[in-house]
Amino acid sequence: MLKIVNLCKNFNINTNNEIVLFNNFNLNVEKNKCTTIIGSNGCGKTTLLNIIGGSASIDSGKIILKGKDISKLKEEKRANYIGRVHQNPSMGVSPSLTIIENMALADRKDTQFTLKKLVKKEDIDKHIALLKNLNLGLENKLDTKVKFLSGGQKQALSLLMATMKYPDLLLLDEHTAALDPKTSKLIMTKTRELIKKHSITTIMISHNIKDAIEYSDRIIMLDSGKIILDKASTDITEKELIEIYLTKLEHIVA
Ligand SMILES: Nc1ncnc2c1ncn2[C@@H]1O[C@H](COP(=O)(O)OP(=O)(O)O)[C@@H](O)[C@H]1O
Ligand SMILES: [Mg+2]
Repeated sequence: MLKIVNLCKNFNINTNNEIVLFNNFNLNVEKNKCTTIIGSNGCGKTTLLNIIGGSASIDSGKIILKGKDISKLKEEKRANYIGRVHQNPSMGVSPSLTIIENMALADRKDTQFTLKKLVKKEDIDKHIALLKNLNLGLENKLDTKVKFLSGGQKQALSLLMATMKYPDLLLLDEHTAALDPKTSKLIMTKTRELIKKHSITTIMISHNIKDAIEYSDRIIMLDSGKIILDKASTDITEKELIEIYLTKLEHIVA
């Protein structure tokens, strides 16, 4: 589904601050699977998602989605095939618009429209049905501005908006990290429901090892832009993964 071929990415090239992050990095992400990327801070997880989503440039290499080279495609164009939910609950939504306006925006992201005519009457029932499926009562707050929602409600809405057009690929960047444990579990359950129901290929970044094993099919550990572990989640236990993680961190601290 997604192939990253010989990716090279440096920051601040030819300065004292030069960071060689990815040097001939390769990754193959299988269709309909949820792949979780774990790794310590600064190992390149977010940059990798930015590169796939198109908000970060690459120095060389190729990003191939469904057999098509999208390396040169602008972020807005890639958004037609790639959905994303960020760590910050306000990033995936338009806080000053209402819930129903946000739903309409997600539904029409590939078409031109004026804000005045954003909400189409004929789509409202479909959007209400999608909101009802979340079981958060958001369907009763259609005209509430999204800035008044809790972090968990915003993330649930973000998730719905990112998956509404059944993207080829969904990118989740620590999308539950800002939430309390109960809300985090709820959002993970909704995530699983949506990606399984619509067979959406997903790449998730998480610091939560338990979630990585429970909710994904494959676990990849990154360290300084390199893959140092790549396993089916059924082939590794939480305990083993934590031990590897801690050994790696000790090595970094030492
Ligand atoms: N825009 C940028 N300019 C310079 N350095 C950056 C930029 N974005 C990320 N980096 C550097 O790249 C490395 C990886 O960052 P990041 O992908 O955010 O890591 P992670 O998400 O794994 O914590 C870090 O050393 C970070 O400082
Ligand atoms: Mg990050």
